[in-house]
This record gives sequence, C-alpha cells and structure tokens, in this order.
Amino acid sequence: MNYLEKIMQIEGAVNSVECQELIRLAEQAEDCIVEIGSWKGRSTVALACGSRMGNNVPVYAIDPHDSHTSTEGRSYGPEDNIRFLENILKSGYADLIQIINLPSNVTVKAWQTLIVEDWKFIDLLFVDGNHDYKEVKKDFRSWEPFVKDNGYIAMHDSTKEGPAKEIKEAHDWEIVKTVGTLCILRRK
Ligand SMILES: C[S@@+](CC[C@H](N)C(=O)[O-])C[C@H]1O[C@@H](n2cnc3c(N)ncnc32)[C@H](O)[C@@H]1O
Repeated sequence: MNYLEKIMQIEGAVNSVECQELIRLAEQAEDCIVEIGSWKGRSTVALACGSRMGNNVPVYAIDPHDSHTSTEGRSYGPEDNIRFLENILKSGYADLIQIINLPSNVTVKAWQTLIVEDWKFIDLLFVDGNHDYKEVKKDFRSWEPFVKDNGYIAMHDSTKEGPAKEIKEAHDWEIVKTVGTLCILRRK
C-alpha cells in the first residue's frame, strides 16, 4: 500500500487529490505547519507525510475535540480524539505532530505571546475547523499575521458559505489555485 492509500484509510474530510496537494505544500515548508481542525487525523497525517518528504518540520495540530454539532449538522466529540491519537501513532509520523488539544482562538493567544520570543512563523496554515462565517473569519484574521510573506493558507470546504465569504473578503490574499474544495491562498 502506498502512502496515499494509507492516509485515505483514515476517516476524514479531505479527499485524495486534496491530500496530495496538502502533501505537496507541506513538502516545501521550512519552519512549521499549523492545522486548525484535525478530526480523526487524515489531513494531519497528510501534512506530516509531506513534511517528512521535505524538511521534517513540525505540524501543530489544533483541535479541542469537544462535543458539539457543526453548522453542517455533524457531531464531533472526545471519542474522535481517541481515533485521532490511534491514527497518529499508527502513521509513523508522530514525531512530527505536535498535538494541541485546544480551540484555535485560545492557541493563537499563546502563539502571539511566543512569537515575541522569536517563535516560528508559519509556512502553511491549513484551515478546516468551525465553518461558521464568524469563526472562519476569526481563524483567518487572527492567524494570518503569523504566516510568512511567501507562505500559504489552505482553506478547506471553500465552496461552503463561511469559508467562501471569508475568501472573498481576504483582499490582501490572492487565490493561487483550487483543488477540489481546497483553496490555496498567497499574500499579494
Ligand atoms: C471538518 S472536521 C476536520 C476534518 C479534518 N481536517 C480531516 O481532514 O479529516 C472539523 C474539525 O474542526 C474541529 N474544530 C471545531 N472548532 C474548532 C476550533 N475552534 N479550533 C480547532 N478545531 C476546531 C472539530 O472538533 C472537528 O474535529
């Protein structure tokens, strides 16, 4: 079984072409990758796989794994965290994955503090957390200052209302390409 087939065995929201694109982008990263919304780890493992092919940079995987129902009516909860941890351990990339079991808005505050102490800037920010427009906006606006000038933001489910609206309003960013529903943005 090749690496993509292995990744696709993990239950997840990103399809195989989107995974391939995440792998390609992660391979180019030189300092770090941040993921908002890991669920059971498919995209996390894809990002870590790309990192392994490239520069072995850490993938900060942010997901509180708390009980809630998404705007699309999907139920999430702590049991996802068990699958996530199992999948990370089985993946062979656990050494690259830094698990942050907190919401993105809490984590970004720590990032803001740490950046002052020369913390890492982000090569690739993958946004696939809460798809509600207000939450997508918060994720985008609070994290984008930490993305390098030549870095990328990859927004999943870019055709859904929340992400689509925010992409339209992100005037400082241009769309480089769209693969499936994965929209890749670069600073203008
Ligand atoms: C669509 S799933 C992510 C799918 C995953 N990227 C994949 O490829 O399979 C959305 C995830 O976002 C998480 N989430 C919701 N609100 C969040 C927040 N504020 N910060 C980080 N993750 C969040 C949920 O717990 C859920 O696991």
